[in-house]
This record gives sequence, C-alpha cells and structure tokens, in this order.
Amino acid sequence: MRIHDLQVNHRTTPLGYKLSTLYFSWKAEGQGKRILQKKICIFEALTGFLLYDSGWVEAGNGTGMAIQLELAPRSRYTWEVMVLSDEGETGKSPRAWFETGKMDEPWAGKWIGAPAGMHAVWMKKSFIVEKKVQSARLYICGLGLYEVYLGENKVGDEYLMPGYYSYDLTTEYQTLDLTSVIKSGKNELKILLGNGWYKGRFVFDGVYWNIYGDQLKLLLEIHLEFEDGTKKVLGSGLDFEGETTPIGLNSIYDGEEQDYTQLPQKVKLCLTEGPLAPLTERTSAPLERVETIVPKTVLHHEGEIVLDFGEMITGWVEFFCHAPKGTRVTLQYGELLQDGMFYRDNLRTAKAAFSYVSDGHSRKVRPHFTYYGFRYVKIEGMSKIKKEDFVAWRLMSLCPRTGCIKTGNAKVNRLLDNVYASLQCNFLDIPTDCPQRDERMGWTGDIAIFGDSAMLQVDCAGFMEHYLEQLRLEQQKLGGSVPFFVPRPKLDDQKANPFLKSHGACTWGDVATLLPWTLYQHYRDETQLRQFYPIMKDWTGYVKGRAQKNAIPWLWQQDMQLGDWLALDQGDAQSPMGKTDTGFIASAYYYQSTEICGKAARVLGLEQEAAQWEEDARRIREAFQKTFLDDQGKLSIPETQTSYAILLSFQLYRPGQVQPAIDRLKELIESNDRHLNTGFVGTPLLCQVLSKYGAHDLACELFMQETYPSWLYEVNLGAVSIWERWNSLNPDGHISGIGMNSMNHYAYGSIIAWVYRWICGFQEDVPEENRLSIRPMPCTALGFAEGEMTAPWGTYRSSWKIRENKEVEYQVHIPFNGKGRVVISGLEEKILEAGDYIFVVRQ
Ligand code: BGC
Repeated sequence: MRIHDLQVNHRTTPLGYKLSTLYFSWKAEGQGKRILQKKICIFEALTGFLLYDSGWVEAGNGTGMAIQLELAPRSRYTWEVMVLSDEGETGKSPRAWFETGKMDEPWAGKWIGAPAGMHAVWMKKSFIVEKKVQSARLYICGLGLYEVYLGENKVGDEYLMPGYYSYDLTTEYQTLDLTSVIKSGKNELKILLGNGWYKGRFVFDGVYWNIYGDQLKLLLEIHLEFEDGTKKVLGSGLDFEGETTPIGLNSIYDGEEQDYTQLPQKVKLCLTEGPLAPLTERTSAPLERVETIVPKTVLHHEGEIVLDFGEMITGWVEFFCHAPKGTRVTLQYGELLQDGMFYRDNLRTAKAAFSYVSDGHSRKVRPHFTYYGFRYVKIEGMSKIKKEDFVAWRLMSLCPRTGCIKTGNAKVNRLLDNVYASLQCNFLDIPTDCPQRDERMGWTGDIAIFGDSAMLQVDCAGFMEHYLEQLRLEQQKLGGSVPFFVPRPKLDDQKANPFLKSHGACTWGDVATLLPWTLYQHYRDETQLRQFYPIMKDWTGYVKGRAQKNAIPWLWQQDMQLGDWLALDQGDAQSPMGKTDTGFIASAYYYQSTEICGKAARVLGLEQEAAQWEEDARRIREAFQKTFLDDQGKLSIPETQTSYAILLSFQLYRPGQVQPAIDRLKELIESNDRHLNTGFVGTPLLCQVLSKYGAHDLACELFMQETYPSWLYEVNLGAVSIWERWNSLNPDGHISGIGMNSMNHYAYGSIIAWVYRWICGFQEDVPEENRLSIRPMPCTALGFAEGEMTAPWGTYRSSWKIRENKEVEYQVHIPFNGKGRVVISGLEEKILEAGDYIFVVRQ
C-alpha cells in the first residue's frame, strides 16, 4: 500500500501558517477496493513524543480527518497515517510535518522604517553564530514587498512576499527556515524592500500611490536553537543598517527601474509604528518560479528588437547584461504584435516596463517588485541580442496540476492549453482578472464563474483559502455584502471609479456561496466548509435584506448589477452590458445562493438553519416563476440565450416545463446563426445545460464552432491564452479596442468545465462518499477524448474513441478507495469499484 500526498489544511508541509482548524488528508493506493479503517498519529517533532492517536476508526472517506489539537507556538509536529483495506492490507505513510508560527506570542523584534517616499531600501544586520545550530527560523513581514538574503544568496524560493492581501485589515507574516543556510561565524542578513501593492501605484482609473502606507517597513525575529540546548533570539531594531539599492521607482503596474551607477548610500532607519491591522500567520500559498522559458525567436522588424516567448507568461525576464558603464537597457512587455510590431496599448496606463543602467560589470538582471503578463518583450539599448542571455520566469502560486484532457482535435487541444495558460497567469497570490493592464485585481465575478474549472485542473484549496480569508475581512466591513474585488482598496478620492465604492452585485457577490461550495464539492472537507459558511450565510442574508425592500419581495430587482457582462446579445459588441434582464439574473442567483446555503447547512448538521434556507428558496422560486414565466413556461422578459441557460441550470422552471425552455434556447441559438452570444453569466452554463437536457450535439457544435463568436475563433487567430472578449481581435488580427481588452482573462475559459463534466463525463455525486458519476458523452468531431481528474481519494480517468466501424470504445479507471456510477448511453448504468474497465457500444 502506498500512502502519499499528505497535506494539513490542503497544504504540503505548511511552515508558519494560520491553523485555526486542522484537517489532515492523504492519498492511498492499494490492492483492494477500498479503505475500511484509518488511524492518525501526531508527534512532537523534536522528542518524537506521541501527542495524539486517533485509534483505528471507521474509514468515512478514508482519505481525510479533522482533528482538534491544542498547538504550541513555533513548534514542529510530525504525523503519519495508517489505513486498513478491505483485503486486510495495512499501509503506513512516511512521516510528514507541519509547523506553527508565533501564534499569540509577543514579538521581540520592533518595526523599523525607511524615510517616507523611498521606493526601495536594504535593511541589514550582521551577527555572529558561535555555536552549532540545531534549528533557525526567521519570522518576518516586510512592507510593501521583500526578499531575504544571507550574504549574497536569496533565502527561500518565494517571490513578491508577503503577497497581496487586505493590508488595512490584516498583516500576514511569513516563516522561513534558515537552518541549512545559516553559517557558523559571521552572517549578514539583508532584507531588500520595495513598494508592491502596499505603497506602489495600484488601482485602475487614476494614479494612486501609497494606498496602505507611505513607508517601507520591516519586522523580524530570528530564533536560533543550538545543539547544546540553548536558544537565542534576534529581533529587528535600531541596530539594523539602511542602505540605498540600485532599484528606483517600482510598482506592480509600471515595472521597475534599476541604476547600478548609483553608489550605495547609508539610509537612516527609525523605529516606526506597525500597521494597525493585526499581525497574523500567513494564509497565502507559496508564490514561486514554476518554470523558466527561453525565447522562441528574436524578431527584428523596422528597427525593433522583440523577443517572442511563444506563450503567455506571468512573471518577468531575467537577462545577462555585459554592457559598458552608463548603458541603459529597457524592456517593455506586451501581449501582442500588431502589423508585425510590438504593441501594448491595451495595457492602458500600466507602463509594464523595466530599465537597467549598467555600471560596466556583467551580471544577471531581473526585477524584484513587479510582474508582467506577456508573450513579447521589446528590447532597447542592446545592439547585439543573444537569445541565450534571456529567460522568462513564470511566477505562480503553487497549485499542483491535478487534471488534464487531450482530444483528437489539435485546435481544441490548443484551446484547452490556453485555458490552463490563463489559469496559471492569473493565480498570483489571489485569483486575478488579468495579469497585464492597470487592473490585476481579485475580481470576484471572474473566479465565481471559473472556480469549478480551476479546481478541475489544479489543487487550489489552500490558494483559495487565502482569498476567502480576505473576502471575509472585506465582507465584515460591508455588513455581509461582497465587493467587486478582493482585496478592496479604499481610496480617499471622490472621483475614484464607482466600483471602488459600490459593492453587492449578483454573480460577483455570489462568489461568497459559489466558491466555498465548489471547494467542498471538490475537496469534500467539511472543516473548510464550516470555516467559510459564515461568508455564505452573511452574503445571502444581505441579499435577502435587499430583496425584502424590492417591490416584489423575494426577488432582487433593484441595485446596480453588471448582469451578463460582455454578452453580445444587445447588438453593440463594444458595450459591456448584455441584454438579459438584470433583475432576472440577480433573483436567480439569489435563489441559487439560498439553495447552496441550505445544502451547506445540511452537510454541517445545522438542520434548523437548513430548513429555513429551504423555505426561503421555495418562496423565491414561487415569486420568480410568477414574475418571469408565463403559463407555457416561456420567459416574460426579453428572451436571451443566457436567460434560458440560467432557468435550466438553476432548475427554476416549473415541473413539466423543461422541454419548452430547452426548445426555446435551441431556437435562440439557431436564429443567431447557430452561434452563442452569451457573456460572463451565460457562457459557463450554456453548453452544460444543452448537454444536460438532451441537446448535446448542439453543445458540441457551439464548442467546435470556428467562426465568430466562438472559442475556436480565437484559436484560429493565434490565441495562446483566453481573451477577455469574444472579439478581442477582429478577423484581420487587429485589436478591436483598447478600453478594456485583455488577451489573458480566464472567465470564458470556464467552457473547460463542460469538457470535463460532459465530454469526459466527470460529475460530482456529493452526497455519496467517494463516488463520482462518470457519464462520458462523445463529441464525434473530436475523434477521441482522454481525461483525468483528481478526487480527494484518487485520480479517475475516462476516455472514449470512435472506432472505424462506428463503435465507440470507452475506458474508465476508478481509483483505489473510490467508486464510480458509470452511465454510458446504450448500456445499463453500473456502480463500479476501483479498477480499469472497457466498454464498447455500437453507435
Ligand atoms: C475586469 C473583469 C471584471 C469586470 C467587471 C473588468 O475590468 O477585468 O474581468 O469582472 O471589469 O466590471
């Protein structure tokens, strides 16, 4: 038996994380079919002392266990798990560990600051280590962003620390293990600080600096434990020395300037106030360089030198520079070429640039306190370009890949890769809308509709916890309502864009129910659901309050809504507002969120609350049907593809009136030349309802459509990521506009959930432990499809191929400890246990 992938709170060996609850999970593979019993032991790492033994317990899901345990600060624990299979086989995992941060311990270090207005600074201190070190930890928070060095070497693999969070509401610090890098004798600890989200230019529609503070500041403590059992603590204070750095102006949007001809100057540091927001352990997933990419080609066109990396990347370029003193090298980052030339007007005010002035020494150069979303990099100031001198770093929060799909169609495969590319490019500490222009914010609607698609491709339960923690903090400031983006920068500017002041719109706000519930469906962790239930409940309660003020109570028809954002059905492709009635959308989502709260309450055993939610849902449904449906089940509002997609997806039709709804949806698609015209709301639902309600062929047709508007239209135009708009580029390859037009938005990539759920057929069966339905539905034009998706207990595979004699061969793999309800057209439904199965059906 092999037991692996041990995680605590969905993180592998978490060091210094906030651990308000504890959930242990793992994966197992054995010879039998399933796990009958499980047992967890937790030890004090140092002494090996057994702190907790669950004893053998009934397996439940067999691959997770919530445990209550009092933890001590700055302590490492090890743990192991044992399982017993139905064949009597037992297995024991290797030991994994987790370690707490400072918890409630007071800090010995003091906040120290640089003079206001500085954009970057070194804060340094040398210290002597006289004895053999057993363990060394650094607890640290640097604002805005920081990197840690010991001597010349950077410590740890993370970048852009402490990451992006609601700096006015929390102050997350990190824990770094210094044990293997600290030397006996003299050590020079150096912290490099820059602006970042905290004080660099950020937020669209204006020029805003210092959103959270105007001073670079640092708090740290080093805890040394020596082999002789003694301990020593070093904290930040006035004995730290400040020094200027070659880094000048830097910000997330504009990039970074470096000038190595400037000689280092001393900087007077002072003791300073820490942020008002409480200090707490980190919740963010590690943000690391996950890949390096060399340029595919160097383009020379009309005097321009442009590197083409051939794919979309979020991160930066590192290059080797050996230019004479005083040479200025500049890099500009962009997503597109236009007429063969470098282009970046769609980045709006974000300069997305980098400049370097050489001191004549050769060195590798990279930015530290910014990032870019790019495929192309224009270079100035270097006459001879050697491709090998440049390498792009892909930066991303660690979310291991857990699912993938391949089909027999190259364009579709490109599309699927593009969805993954946009996911990778936008999972940078928080889920962002886009990685390139003056935005890059945690827009709630985008991840509300892409959450399921994300979780089908990567393990992001830990990553999302960070986002939902910020969401909770922001929500508490808004009486249950949810902002348009999380974190929500608060600007003292009357003229600031209204999105910064307003909040509480449907679909965007419904992230509060959709994201936690989708997490539960994927990871089946009740502890996490319980942790986020207050977010769900408060949002839905807020909407209920709004609906009670509506002319028709139980519907939500007033308030500013974004509706079916970017839909094409109102006839003006440049206008972002779709045609679907926004009161209809908001009321439907109110119903959906209420239903989800009811289901969550049932899972959590909150029976009375569940009954109340269910009663609310019944009343919303009644009012909805009365207001929006005629006696024949036709919608009484202007009909759109999105409105029927919602009606069907949320099952808001009256009993017996499914068929008129699906027929009408089909007609609307037909009368639109068999093309979609949906926006953010309708697009994730459209193909799913068609496949669900007997129009799978039409779903496949929309999916395979190559003319505008469609997913493959962008593939045909050379897209390497998912565009924000259906018409981001015109058929001649020219950009359609620059006001709001990114080439790297994952929202429309939500079609990938349909490919997983209908083409490969992976459907969740939430109430049943360890079971998935596998209901593959071939799309003949694809030839074949092979997919895998990972449930908490293991990886399922499902594939089909059309054989020449018109037979369809299906293959299904059900992992150890899992079950599958296999539903294949032409065969009897079966519930199968772990194993590999082949079925052949004549079409
Ligand atoms: C963002 C979106 C977002 C939308 C809502 C845009 O600027 O990039 O993805 O959801 O605004 O207004």
